[in-house]
Amino acid sequence: MPTLPDFVFLVLIYFAGSAYCQFGYSTAEQKRWAVDFPQCGGSSQSPIEIYTGSVIPAFIPRLKLYGYDWPLPFPVILKNDGKTADVSSLNTDVTRYPHLAFLNSLYRFVGFHFHWGKNQKGSEHVVNGKSYPVELHIVHRNVKYSESQALNFQDGLLVLGIFFEVSSVDNPNLYSVTNYLRYIRAENATTTISTHCSLGGLLGSLNINKFYTYQGSLTTPPCSETVTWIVFANILNISHRQLNEFRQLIGTDGKIIRNYRHLQPLNGRPVYVRSGSKWRG
Ligand SMILES: *[C@@H]1O[C@H](CO)[C@@H](O)[C@H](O)[C@H]1NC(C)=O
Ligand SMILES: *[C@@H]1O[C@H](CO)[C@@H](O)[C@H](O)[C@H]1NC(C)=O
Ligand SMILES: [Zn+2]
Repeated sequence: MPTLPDFVFLVLIYFAGSAYCQFGYSTAEQKRWAVDFPQCGGSSQSPIEIYTGSVIPAFIPRLKLYGYDWPLPFPVILKNDGKTADVSSLNTDVTRYPHLAFLNSLYRFVGFHFHWGKNQKGSEHVVNGKSYPVELHIVHRNVKYSESQALNFQDGLLVLGIFFEVSSVDNPNLYSVTNYLRYIRAENATTTISTHCSLGGLLGSLNINKFYTYQGSLTTPPCSETVTWIVFANILNISHRQLNEFRQLIGTDGKIIRNYRHLQPLNGRPVYVRSGSKWRG
């Protein structure tokens, strides 16, 4: 019965976090992902490069966000998990979670985290050859699945990807994260975000009406191909000072200087663009 223990193990490592999930971001380490986690060698992997000249315009209804302006259920714990700064251990007694409706599915918010790098790189998705210094991922799970089931279904998760560009002035909407990063520099350190923190507050004035969407995977092992991606065309700002707070976090191999995955082949998957009611090809 080799398959059952393997499967249980993969689910366990994902939900137990980085403790049992040994992977690194150097080129040599990324080549090993598919060896240690076979799904990372699949044909519908993320991230991808988006070419705006070849995306397919589609009539896609608006994203409907529910509870994005509510304060996240307290305590909101920010953790340095050795790979990223992550908010996901939410108070599970609370029933008022933010939700999102997309096409025919309803998804519940489960957490958010960041990817970053240096030298203008850092985002996982790339648009027309351009990388951004930071990409925020807001992860949602389809309400029809439990936490342990979601990774077995193609429509298990929906992740919002938001790019940030470096600006000279701080983005105050990010203070509820960046002001707390100094308290979680050590690997596994946690802190409680004591100021008001809502998803809508993080996104500020982001225009959510234009986005790219495609079917892909988690960008960290086990790379399950269960993610509907929504990558927004609109870009937010982050200052150098704020970006630098992310780069002070310490992981297993010293400072987390980069934590983005290499681009993955599209393999013929369609990438759609929603651009409001007026769109052109
Ligand atoms: C962080 O936690 C993991 C899992 O408990 C452990 O393996 C690792 O050694 C910890 N790192 C530090 C620096 O404590
Ligand atoms: C980002 O910063 C630029 C200047 O660097 C400014 O023109 C732009 O309006 C800012 N965008 C947002 C969303 O604040
Ligand atoms: Zn991510």
